[in-house]
Amino acid sequence: SSTISSIHTGYSAPASSKISKGQRRQPSLSPGVVIWFTGLSGAGKTTLARALEVLLYEAGYPVEHLDGDAVREHLSKGLGFSREDRDTNIRRIGYVANLLAKHGVLVLVSAISPYRSTREAVLAEAPRKLEVYVDAPLKVLIQRDVKGLYARALRGEIPHFTGISDPYEPPLNPDLHLRTDQMSLQECLSRLLAALAPFGVEE
Ligand code: PPS
Ligand code: ADP
Ligand code: MG
Repeated sequence: SSTISSIHTGYSAPASSKISKGQRRQPSLSPGVVIWFTGLSGAGKTTLARALEVLLYEAGYPVEHLDGDAVREHLSKGLGFSREDRDTNIRRIGYVANLLAKHGVLVLVSAISPYRSTREAVLAEAPRKLEVYVDAPLKVLIQRDVKGLYARALRGEIPHFTGISDPYEPPLNPDLHLRTDQMSLQECLSRLLAALAPFGVEE
């Protein structure tokens, strides 16, 4: 503990980092960006993030992917789908994403993140951000039903299921709006790369 180490060294760690933001060097070749995919279940967040991750990795960028489903198995283990738990989940993901981005990582986040104010609060802390609204009509998502969750939710078996019995607040002014029922994966990836070009990120 810090008490024990301060007895031995006479030094106690400061409560917060003494490195001010201005002293941190931004690597010029690795512009950190938080690329945040929001949208309903089945809209294509995970698929797009994984595909973009491969492209960026192969282009030599440091890249990390934080997926809601995966994060809920460790960092957010035990959290449910109440507003409070979803917001806690999103704040945790945002915290890690922003730390990584500050060190030059291209961070891909794929999480429903249904509440606008929480998304906005987390993204306001990012050094650079791209908010991507992954969108398809509910009718299409019910037809896709990748995980069989919509069928169960429509039968009333999943309380608080986003889009069926729980709210989703779409971004009012996303940096990118991808209609995955109208555009192929390749087209979506092209749009993503074009949106990243102003950050100096190129394939
Ligand atoms: S949130 O709202 O951002 O905290 O959600 P997230 O961490 O992205 O987790 C969403 C995944 O959990 C599964 N799932 C549900 N989604 C929505 N509502 C309810 N009630 C629910 N229960 C389980 C589902 O697999 C979501 O993953 P995706 O990839 O979106 O389908
Ligand atoms: P989410 O993570 O948002 O729940 P998934 O990525 O798991 O969504 O599922 C999206 C489904 O939609 C996949 O079966 C995928 O193949 C399909 N799909 C069809 N067109 C697209 C597209 N343009 N972008 C992403 N996914 C698409
Ligand atoms: Mg997913």
